[in-house]
Amino acid sequence: MRVLVTGGAGFIGGQIVEQLAARGDQVVVLDSLAAHEEPPEHLPDSVELLVGDLGDERALRRAVEGVDAVCHQAARVGLGVDFDDVSDYVADNDLGTANLLRALWRRSFTGRLVVASSMVVYGEGRYRCPEHGDVRAEPRRRDDLDAGRFEPRCGCGADLEWAAVREDARLDPRNVYAATKVHTEHLSFLYGRESEATVCALRYHNVYGPRMPRDTPYAGVASIFRSALEAGKAPRVFEDGNQTRDFVHVRDVARANLLALDSAWTGAANIASGEPHSVGDMARALAAGFTEATEPVVTGEYRLGDVRHVAASPDLAAEALGFRAETGFAEGMADFAHDPLR
Ligand SMILES: NC(=O)c1ccc[n+]([C@@H]2O[C@H](COP(=O)([O-])OP(=O)(O)OC[C@H]3O[C@@H](n4cnc5c(N)ncnc54)[C@H](O)[C@@H]3O)[C@@H](O)[C@H]2O)c1
Repeated sequence: MRVLVTGGAGFIGGQIVEQLAARGDQVVVLDSLAAHEEPPEHLPDSVELLVGDLGDERALRRAVEGVDAVCHQAARVGLGVDFDDVSDYVADNDLGTANLLRALWRRSFTGRLVVASSMVVYGEGRYRCPEHGDVRAEPRRRDDLDAGRFEPRCGCGADLEWAAVREDARLDPRNVYAATKVHTEHLSFLYGRESEATVCALRYHNVYGPRMPRDTPYAGVASIFRSALEAGKAPRVFEDGNQTRDFVHVRDVARANLLALDSAWTGAANIASGEPHSVGDMARALAAGFTEATEPVVTGEYRLGDVRHVAASPDLAAEALGFRAETGFAEGMADFAHDPLR
């Protein structure tokens, strides 16, 4: 199979490329290398690397030539610095996806399209009120957060209990990046409907593992803690450390992509470990991997707009794609303490 992996030089794309090449697929990578200070050295020799941007029509035309499947990973990731980033996110993620789809349309591509989406499309996770059952959690109020009341509350005042979010939850993007991932999904499914290509969106939860980008405004929390520990500093855990996430290993995420490429299932699925942990737990697990570990500090600080608990149901990915994460939390975090970062 000839597969185009956009963003194939990146953290997740790189692992997908390695797994595809290892099983003998012919891989073409289109990557602008915008997220890289140095040319990537990890790509297998058999991979054809096209350095080009999703905004470059000629590069795209070349990239889609003769491919049977497309795995779309290229995107501007993370939360960015502030709203001033909006046009850059929209250019890379919304327009970039649109350009890729147009190039596929002009080639009458009807093969398999797998796109990287994210848990951020849900906004807050799923919650239950002991009194009112399933309820939506509205953005938390500054005065609650200032007073250290971090748990989202029901309109009746009761603290809510979190539950695993399923794919049929209402989409509620709460930052620019999240809005662009919702749009990426929508545009891709529209392409599927118009072209008869089969389209699948994978909503990754918190991905970690080797070659994760270092601490930048675009990095995930695991890499921020890891960078602090490496510099001999204590990881600074915001809120009370009890916010919940699902940390899923990058090799599992890559394997989920291969399963999705091999399947014709259409829809959006969570890609998660199914084993949620608190951010405080993650900081402690990571610190334990360092010999002269600095204990994490729980600071009580907060970022307005951060969500409190997002844990995922992994059931649909298991049923539809046969995907189950294989790397456990303790094992993955112990390795991540020593994995090379980008
Ligand atoms: N890392 C996570 O925890 C996570 C979670 C959910 C979803 N995702 C999604 O997974 C995908 C891969 O993310 P990642 O963590 O590997 O990030 P990454 O930055 O390591 O990889 C993205 C790659 O895309 C390339 N790229 C960016 N803009 C481009 C453009 N306009 N044209 C061509 N190439 C471009 C970058 O150079 C980079 O190599 C993204 O779509 C992201 O939204 C990641």
